[in-house]
Amino acid sequence: MTGTTIARLSEHDGQTATIRGWLYNRRSKGKIQFLLLRDGSGIVQCVALKNELGDDVFERLDGLPYESTVEVEGAVKLDARAPGGVEMKIDRIAVLAEAAPDYPISKQAHGPDHLLSHRHLWLRSKRQAAIMRIRDEIVRAIRDFMHQRDFVNVDAPIFTPNACEGTTNLFEVDYHDETVFLTQSGQLYNEATAAALGRVYCFGPTFRAEKSKTRRHLQEFWMMEPEMAFCTFDEVMDLAEDCLRYVIGRALEHRQRDLADLERDTTILERCTEPFPRITYEQAVALMHEKGHEFEFGDDFGAPDETFISEQFQQPVMIHRYPKAVKAFYMKEDPEDSRFALGVDVIAPEGCGEIIGGGQREESIEVLKRKIEEHGLPEEAFRWYLDLRRWGSFPHGGFGLGLERTVGWVCGLEHVREAIPFPRTLYRMYP
Ligand code: 4AD
Ligand code: MG
Repeated sequence: MTGTTIARLSEHDGQTATIRGWLYNRRSKGKIQFLLLRDGSGIVQCVALKNELGDDVFERLDGLPYESTVEVEGAVKLDARAPGGVEMKIDRIAVLAEAAPDYPISKQAHGPDHLLSHRHLWLRSKRQAAIMRIRDEIVRAIRDFMHQRDFVNVDAPIFTPNACEGTTNLFEVDYHDETVFLTQSGQLYNEATAAALGRVYCFGPTFRAEKSKTRRHLQEFWMMEPEMAFCTFDEVMDLAEDCLRYVIGRALEHRQRDLADLERDTTILERCTEPFPRITYEQAVALMHEKGHEFEFGDDFGAPDETFISEQFQQPVMIHRYPKAVKAFYMKEDPEDSRFALGVDVIAPEGCGEIIGGGQREESIEVLKRKIEEHGLPEEAFRWYLDLRRWGSFPHGGFGLGLERTVGWVCGLEHVREAIPFPRTLYRMYP
């Protein structure tokens, strides 16, 4: 089958072209109908004239249900007034599949429950397609950035024998009569591959049995995790900042039209060319106290705390050097102040919360063994991990960038569930 796509129609100005797609919307005006067709690449207005197509075809179109599949051949004309800047006059139209009359998603507003139950159809709407294109751009930008910096993509397994990020949110799976877990993070495996390849990253789905129903939490989300051999903590922070800046720049540069469709005010994204403020946990707490925001020194930041801090900056903020107790077992202690761990979180503005978490890793096998015990983790499952310190321990660090939270922030979404094609949330596994 030959033909073109709606996104490329403007290349056919003044010619005849063929497109295939679905009926998205319609407006009738006596002997003229304006059919909006979508094909995934875009939406185009097609004009049907009764006196050219004949009564039968014209009437068939008039009653054609939304989401029917059609093939249209017609004359392409650039027209600044038309949505997408191009219009097509229908010379021939074939209905490839007539849709049932009761398409569950109308152009009126629906509640989130209805939309999520019809996620398989909801994805067809303009707004959702725009989000998916931005997600795609962000994925590509991340990979391009990592490869420009000489990182090798080495992916981590999904089935794992051990926890990485605490034991409270593990998904257990029966693995041939043995209990294993769905991965919470590829980091521990990255540490192994970093010792093999130097600079690595993994990028894949990760799982957290989160009991929280917030706008930031998914049960299944994608994470990009780089790991660098022989780096300093500052270099980890620099990499996180450069990566995020690059990714946002690419979304602004390449997905302007989609951001406009989402009615995203991009001012705050454009400000990302400036350096991100970096403050310590101690400074963040002092700032909260100074401004009258209640917070107990030593606690981990909750969503309202993160939002409060980010509101002081209107930019991504990097908070580093957290109390050891609130961070994972593998984090290296700050050599300058043993109360703190060399961890960093990047907090996005607009209440989106932590989009990156990372830090420097503990190199000492003795300290790690002690930490594994203190965290109530089974040492046996970490035998291989300890081997990495036994044979050629090395300073290293990295981070995890949450894809959906990043997409959610770039798109200005209310909830991360719109940032992934088929969200898995606390009470929803369908479709
Ligand atoms: O801060 P986290 O838990 O860090 C790690 O997993 C490290 N092992 C990463 C590393 O150093 N290689 O998670 C990293 C990021 C968070 O900043 C957030 O963006 C995202 O993963 N994330 C979630 N996104 C959606 N839903 C959830 N339940 C998430 N939990 C974490
Ligand atoms: Mg974190």
